[in-house]
Amino acid sequence: MFEKRIACIGAGYVGGPTMAMIAMKCPQYKVTVVDVNEARIKAWQTDDLPIYEPGLLEVVQAARGRNLFFSTDINAAIRESEIIFVSVNTPTKTFGEGAGKAADLQYWEKVAREILRESESPKIVVEKSTLPVKTAQTMENILNANDRNIRFDVVSNPEFLAEGTAVKDLLSPDRVLIGSRETPEGLKARQAIVDIYANWVPTERIITSNVWSSELSKLVANAFLAQRISSINSISALCEKTDASVAEVSRAVGMDARIGGRFLNAGVGFGGSCFRKDILNLVYICEGYHLYEVARYWQSVLEMNEYQETRFVRNMVRSMFNTIVGKRIALFGFAFKADTGDTRESPAIHVAKKLLDEKAELVISDPKALDNARIDLAGCGGGIDYVEDPYEAARGVHAVAVLTEWDLYRKLDWGRIYGSMEKPAFVFDGRNILDTRKLFEIGFNVYPLGRPPLKHF
Ligand SMILES: NC(=O)c1ccc[n+]([C@@H]2O[C@H](COP(=O)([O-])OP(=O)(O)OC[C@H]3O[C@@H](n4cnc5c(N)ncnc54)[C@H](O)[C@@H]3O)[C@@H](O)[C@H]2O)c1
Repeated sequence: MFEKRIACIGAGYVGGPTMAMIAMKCPQYKVTVVDVNEARIKAWQTDDLPIYEPGLLEVVQAARGRNLFFSTDINAAIRESEIIFVSVNTPTKTFGEGAGKAADLQYWEKVAREILRESESPKIVVEKSTLPVKTAQTMENILNANDRNIRFDVVSNPEFLAEGTAVKDLLSPDRVLIGSRETPEGLKARQAIVDIYANWVPTERIITSNVWSSELSKLVANAFLAQRISSINSISALCEKTDASVAEVSRAVGMDARIGGRFLNAGVGFGGSCFRKDILNLVYICEGYHLYEVARYWQSVLEMNEYQETRFVRNMVRSMFNTIVGKRIALFGFAFKADTGDTRESPAIHVAKKLLDEKAELVISDPKALDNARIDLAGCGGGIDYVEDPYEAARGVHAVAVLTEWDLYRKLDWGRIYGSMEKPAFVFDGRNILDTRKLFEIGFNVYPLGRPPLKHF
């Protein structure tokens, strides 16, 4: 009845949304998303999805039960599908050789072995996870070590969606990249994946390459994005010393068509599950090929990010008369960016921990990320309250630090907030989203990033 059967192993931030989009756009295919995490699969079967992403519920609802299914029966999904996307997590290795840098491929290899064990017919295995360049070789070696004459083709199709805009990115991607071996069989497998996306993505945006270029392009794209943020953040430090405004500088620089204006906002640092781990991985790969200068260059992007987080907290402590012991500080935003509940590698985690080290008391506020914040800060000790309503969160605090660029923080009644705070009242705008002049006139001492502070003393 269905033209093709597609499985996706890994029902996370990537597997869930990408497969929901394929299913919505291609009713002729059966799409089954599987995961070992039973609670996650259960949540995908309800309208209380396991991840927050604007517009995602509507996409899921359009296809769920029709040609989109969520299941924990991984083996059945492998057996019945001709195409298997693998979208499991590939975190940084925490042990042994390459600890702290290399990608931990244990989940990937486990999945490869499961595919090998359960398969009774040929499969195209699609790398959706972000993987080190040359992983497809390992996958082929494992999968083709079978004596049942089953053919496996490994194709790379890295995902470029950004959390918070995943639905928009999937509906209208800048490009879809599909890499394969350039043998007749490899090219046939490549075409099978091109055919899926061609259902809704214009053909000129579907680009193909050899498998190694495809694997590497994903790491490089993330490294370049992170590098832009670190570059402008480094300049934010200089602006604060020179009376320049980083927003004005980035506007002027970004209007150069060769540079472009996006991803040039200074802030407290980048977060998210990918940038740090993918750069660490890139550094590790370069070191493996003895390209130490290249490795150091990319390592510095991470160092600049850590510097920015540390600098932000140091600035808070110094501004608040060199001590924050016992002072209540509200953190507005805990998600690593707006429009997601994801807090993985969020700068807010690092800022919160550093403030707790200084013995401050924290009130964490976020419209979507409080559950994750509780997990991230469990066992940290110190006084931490979690309060969703920003007005409640700010009551009686000495300072507010904006750490996520949620739109709602721009629209708050800051006069009301000022009225309920301890005086002198401080605002540290870690995302440069507030009207600093207006806040200063209300009475706040305002510390934007990349601009000298506005203070009343
Ligand atoms: N999050 C993003 O914005 C993003 C964007 C592009 C690429 N990526 C990449 O995509 C991959 C997945 O990222 P994510 O954010 O979706 O991760 P995630 O942790 O949200 O999801 C991974 C899922 O895989 C499942 N899993 C692990 N081992 C399994 C196994 N053996 N069998 C079945 N399920 C298994 C886990 O239970 C989890 O639900 C990573 O490589 C990441 O780098 C992520």
